[in-house]
Amino acid sequence: MITHDIKAAATELRAGGVVAFPTETVYGLGADALDTDAVRKVFSIKGRPANNPMIVHVSSIEMAKQLVTDWPSEAQRLADAFWPGPMTIVLAKSDLVPSIVTGHGETVAIRMPNHKITLELIESFGGPIVGPSANASGTISPTVAAHVEESLGDQITILDGGPCIRGIESTVVRLEHGKASLLRPGVIGSEEIARIVPIASTDLAADSDAPMPSPGLLAKHYAPKTPTRLVDQVDSHMLTLGTVVISIACEVEVANLIQMPSDAAGYAARLYAALHEADTMRADLILIERPTGKGPIWDAVRDRLRRASASS
Ligand code: TXA
Ligand code: MG
Repeated sequence: MITHDIKAAATELRAGGVVAFPTETVYGLGADALDTDAVRKVFSIKGRPANNPMIVHVSSIEMAKQLVTDWPSEAQRLADAFWPGPMTIVLAKSDLVPSIVTGHGETVAIRMPNHKITLELIESFGGPIVGPSANASGTISPTVAAHVEESLGDQITILDGGPCIRGIESTVVRLEHGKASLLRPGVIGSEEIARIVPIASTDLAADSDAPMPSPGLLAKHYAPKTPTRLVDQVDSHMLTLGTVVISIACEVEVANLIQMPSDAAGYAARLYAALHEADTMRADLILIERPTGKGPIWDAVRDRLRRASASS
């Protein structure tokens, strides 16, 4: 059920229920982060493997501090620079956080989303909420309320906050011994992070946003149901009647073309809606032309496109 009633959604969270909520990146599937039974429902609705930890969403730095054993100055600097926003910070967890949330690991991932409705929801609920993307595990992330309904059915409450303006998931950063390692690329890139805190791993060259593996982050992820291939350039011999092409500037004549914006932010914001749309066209094959732009947002886009088109 899609709703605009923040108070009712908060009441549902207090009763141990599950509520989908909007953020600037993608929609999240929310539940009381301190209630093991409520979090278990989220794992079960998503079909998410138990070893894949969840991000905990907060509405204040005070709330974040309760979730960790130590809030280092580097965390404060990252929060000052990027919160509320698409930046998730991984730190050693406090005893307050149930181990189901963290995939039974010792660290917790925390983020303050930049969305008025969800900050109000968390405030009104009065505590942190888990929020994996509100889609069945492995499938395309939702960027509008209708995507959530399509993926998870109409039995859950979905708080509608309109389309997500960023469109791809937050950058995930691990902070350890005063240094940051990038676990998942997002719209905030390593160069921007390096201006705020030192970067740990030496394999992160300034021009590379290649992430370290995040637990549960699979090669195939964010994937349409339709077979999907990533190509440099579409050639007419690749096309059949049942092919959909997703491209910024396709040079061949294509019957089913989804035209993408040429700027990185616009492309990212449109990406998951385009994949959803291609899937509903019931094509035999989705061909995506790999964008070639430089910079963190394009790197994050290519990361998602690689996973959307991975074979397993
Ligand atoms: O933008 C986002 O981050 C969205 C919105 C809803 O906030 N949420 C999201 O959640 O993308 P999810 O569950 O789809 O992805 C969480 C990512 C996974 O790659 C997971 O491995 C990583 O965060 N993660 C969570 N807890 C972690 C931890 N303790 N250590 C390392 N990585 C962690
Ligand atoms: Mg996800």
